[in-house]
Amino acid sequence: MSKRISIAIDGPAAAGKSTIAKMVAKNLNYTYIDTGAMYRCVAYYAWLNHVDVQDEQAVSKLLKDIDIDMFPDGTIQLNHEDVTSAIRENEVSMGASVVSQYQAVRTFLVEKQREMAQGGGVILDGRDIGTVVLKDAELKIYQVASIECRALRRHKENLQRGIESDLEAIQKEIAMRDEQDMTRLISPLKKADDAIEIDTSDMSLEEVVAKVMQLVEQRI
Ligand code: DC
Repeated sequence: MSKRISIAIDGPAAAGKSTIAKMVAKNLNYTYIDTGAMYRCVAYYAWLNHVDVQDEQAVSKLLKDIDIDMFPDGTIQLNHEDVTSAIRENEVSMGASVVSQYQAVRTFLVEKQREMAQGGGVILDGRDIGTVVLKDAELKIYQVASIECRALRRHKENLQRGIESDLEAIQKEIAMRDEQDMTRLISPLKKADDAIEIDTSDMSLEEVVAKVMQLVEQRI
């Protein structure tokens, strides 16, 4: 029987990490954990409670009331309410990037992520999986793509979903979030020394999945 390993996928915003992670998880029958969704839940909960995400103390106080459940079909519940689409709003993306700078928020979520990842057979995507959450993951991927390419993919995705979309605004938002995520003091986004970088700018989804699967095969 093959070994059930832990896989970490990190990289900048909108690099297609979750799409790839979901496809690889399905191929391997692994559990996929979208850690960005958890930071989004914290930002969304602050918004629901009229708490300014810039107020670290106030956001930290909310954590004890936050219960996040993630289901195999991709549904995300916050205190037993379905927030799967609500947490994808632009404002929530920016808010998630802000609250992810706070130590209390990171400690709270990293503990949950480690619990969920126990036993292997998991694939987690985020910003600090290979560097902090699962430092011992058997496979670490650092997935990147040019900013133009990431913005265009997100723009097309929005149009497909019938959501109004402004390519220039998306590119600006992604650039701002990357800057914030890469320069924060605690667990900034960076490539782990032992991560394998994949630039997906000129690759199809199938090519990226095949590449990751090949790396997995070498490790199981
Ligand atoms: O992956 P995403 O775009 O849904 O993540 C939203 C924000 O959450 C991102 O801008 C930074 C933060 N984040 C983080 O700090 N650490 C993670 N492991 C995942 C996300």
